[in-house]
Amino acid sequence: MTSTRRTPDWWRDAVVYQVYPRSFADSDGDGMGDIPGLISRLDYLEDLGVDAIWISPYYTSPLHDGGYDVADYRSIDARLGTMDDVDRLIEQAHARGIGVIMDVVPNHTSSEHPWFVEALTTEPGSLQWDRYIVREGSGPDRETPPNNWRSVFHGSGWSHVRDAAGDPTGYWYLHLFDTTQPDLNWENPEVRAEFRDILRFWFDRGIDGFRIDVAHGLVKEEGLPDYAYPSDDDEPMQPEMFDFGDVAHAPFWDQDGVHDIYREWRAVADEYDPPRVFCGETWVPNPERLARYQRPDELHTSFNFAYLEAGWDAGRMRASIDDTIAQHAKVGAPPTWVLSNHDVIRHRTRMAPGFDNQHRLTCVVDEERGLRRARAATLFTMALPGSLYLYQGEELGLPEVRDLDAEVRQDPAWHRSGGTDGTRDGCRVPIPWSGQEPSYGFGPGAASWLPQPAAWADLSVEREQADPASTLAMYRAALRIRRAAAALGEGPLTWLDVDGDALAFQRAAADGSTVTCVLNLSESTLRLPTAWGSEVLLGSTDDVAVLATDDGAEELVLGSETALWITSAS
Ligand code: NOJ
Repeated sequence: MTSTRRTPDWWRDAVVYQVYPRSFADSDGDGMGDIPGLISRLDYLEDLGVDAIWISPYYTSPLHDGGYDVADYRSIDARLGTMDDVDRLIEQAHARGIGVIMDVVPNHTSSEHPWFVEALTTEPGSLQWDRYIVREGSGPDRETPPNNWRSVFHGSGWSHVRDAAGDPTGYWYLHLFDTTQPDLNWENPEVRAEFRDILRFWFDRGIDGFRIDVAHGLVKEEGLPDYAYPSDDDEPMQPEMFDFGDVAHAPFWDQDGVHDIYREWRAVADEYDPPRVFCGETWVPNPERLARYQRPDELHTSFNFAYLEAGWDAGRMRASIDDTIAQHAKVGAPPTWVLSNHDVIRHRTRMAPGFDNQHRLTCVVDEERGLRRARAATLFTMALPGSLYLYQGEELGLPEVRDLDAEVRQDPAWHRSGGTDGTRDGCRVPIPWSGQEPSYGFGPGAASWLPQPAAWADLSVEREQADPASTLAMYRAALRIRRAAAALGEGPLTWLDVDGDALAFQRAAADGSTVTCVLNLSESTLRLPTAWGSEVLLGSTDDVAVLATDDGAEELVLGSETALWITSAS
């Protein structure tokens, strides 16, 4: 990599852009994005100013869960490209100073993985079955699952092991996700060795790191005890994810034993020069549990979902920021910040007035104010210390597509929940690049694996590149400033007193320069103290006025639902 940012510590304040490859850019017109398509858009990512890309899985996969069901960890799905394409991607990204982070899926394989296929030809108790989590059923005829664990995608977390004739055997395999995603047995040394080898396989090809799927889930509590679910509803995920409170610690998440695996992985990453890096997908209840994954001999970073969940709420945002920074400081790790990804409702829609998560597809939201809030929240987040994860399309201000027909939806949870959940397709609709007609430059023709809304012609990269007030222009300007300003990136944060529904903090560099960041969450204007200066670096809208005060000083007045960066030179 030629970038001067390519120091061993580059990841501590990196801006990492998530590519969901099936939806980013399609080179061959089959309606599915691919690696050559991604390569053709690297100039765009360089101009945007990102330090690295994290690419969701592109391994050989039956795509029952968008590629998070891996059939072969050492090959590329033919629909997405070839190994040569990946080599070119790594080379061309590095030539632009962009790091490449792949996605490793260690909690489960696809049911089409050779290990699972082979296991099915043997009796439970075999060495082959020991790579997975298989138990005898309970009840007289072993017709009841071994315990009460649920699938994150709804329904039971267990399915029958069937014999060659398709009849149930009395044994069951665990799948915390879809039935086609059997959980691996991480007590088995062969599983551990295999994944260390997979890491090396890709590190040797030159990638810079891995995002780890379900990083908190690999180890299950001994004896696989029943879980006291907080509710009898078929609600598999949320309650135990955040803030345990009265809720018991789930026996399948965030077990202490998982940390040993990451110590082994860290040793592998540290064999390389420069050392390779990890980012964990760790859904844990609070920043204290999160920071445990970032102890010095474990993962470099993990996603901070508590901040994502804080929403458009000054009190929750500030509490989450304080707790995150404090807990990470204890382990010497930088915090990370993320507002959107391929599993959650896009933050433009989620933050919009009227959004109601219980009725996320049908609630009426104010899209324009959603965009205004999303831009403000993003600019605010970009000034926080540590590293930042962006999800493709958020830089265009894309909303969630909530009106996809049931027939086109592919999220397995949609089907397992009978259409009441599994709404993740709406944030995976292919990116609009240019033009007036679908696929809006996503591919050479009209095809896209999910239909794009007509309104997206106005949100294309081409349109926004031509508009200095666009969301894309704001992202570019912010990332340019963030890279250049000594006060941004890693370092201390000091809260400033501010009136009303607002947040303000200052970042200061060793050279004495500062960046003050203000977020006005209210629907009224906000007058800023003159002492904060009037040298505007960037606003999330142009709704910022400079007024002369009686004593000749200059006062900034910030519009509603707007964020602002102000500087004082050193
Ligand atoms: C988390 C991934 O982000 C999600 O897309 C996937 O469905 C699950 N893990 C299971 O692999």
